[in-house]
Amino acid sequence: MNQRAIRFYDDHPAPATMLEEVLQGLASRPRRIAPKFFYDERGSRLFDAICELPEYYPTRTEMGILESCADEVARLSGPDGTLIELGSGASKKIRLLLEAVRPRRYLGIDISREFLRQSVQRLAHDYPWLEVQAACTDFMQDFELPGGAGEGKKLAFFPGSTIGNFEPHDALAFLQRVRRLVQPDGALLIGVDLKKDPQILHAAYNDSAGITAQFNLNLLLRLRDELGAELDPQGFRHRAFYNTARGRIEMHLISRRAQDIRLLGRRFHFEPGESIHTENSYKYTLEEFHVLARGAGLRPRQAWLDSAHLFSVHYLSVVSRSRPRAA
Ligand code: AVI
Repeated sequence: MNQRAIRFYDDHPAPATMLEEVLQGLASRPRRIAPKFFYDERGSRLFDAICELPEYYPTRTEMGILESCADEVARLSGPDGTLIELGSGASKKIRLLLEAVRPRRYLGIDISREFLRQSVQRLAHDYPWLEVQAACTDFMQDFELPGGAGEGKKLAFFPGSTIGNFEPHDALAFLQRVRRLVQPDGALLIGVDLKKDPQILHAAYNDSAGITAQFNLNLLLRLRDELGAELDPQGFRHRAFYNTARGRIEMHLISRRAQDIRLLGRRFHFEPGESIHTENSYKYTLEEFHVLARGAGLRPRQAWLDSAHLFSVHYLSVVSRSRPRAA
């Protein structure tokens, strides 16, 4: 592949401190391990496989919506700006936008350096007219846009309903951060999974091929292989259910019997049925999401849904602060 020059900014984000976080999470009640630890190489491959499952509707539904709303997005955002992909990677979705929106510049942001490098190189190759930049940084923390990317109108793109994996207060903080990133006249295009019949949700997180179960249980393999934990991965099973009161899918690893996990000289005892809480995936109504967006200083301009109302894509623009009146 012919390689074009790409401006690559490296913030050297600190690697996640998996050992400390896991020790803390296993000691806490309820026991928990953060979903960010799902995504090692095997976990990322399993997640790609989840996206292809017949029961997991979000990916293909969002792609369908993006295909049909790309021209309207282009009209709202205008040409020649900077398109910023938060969590650059799958890049299939960004391709649905690039031709329609025709930004001057693309900036991919991701914490995973090699993954980011490869994905922006592919884009630079496939879109010769596009100026391609990359920033290796943790967008869950405050960060500045690299020099050149700060010019012109900015459209941030955050697909996949990853916002559903944040606790609502973290989702708010995230939206506020994005608002600062794209101000004064920019916008955010974001995919958000909707509340719906719990049976559809249940099937999406309990697929018949058992891929989601493998994805969840992969965490235990990471604990064993990377952190040196002594544990029996067969001693746990996958559980996912819709918590109606909290409006979220919860994923857990459930102990099949009385057993211990030993890690760094510490012993964590599990009774049969005891759980490690591994993920929340919040679902929103349109109104709930609009309230969240407005709270972060973003104005809902347009929302697109599929015909079965499974998934939504929102265009949110920065609410400009009213100027102080002249005396
Ligand atoms: C990445 N995230 C939006 C997925 C979700 O649906 O919450 C992760 C996932 N967990 C189980 N299946 C998919």
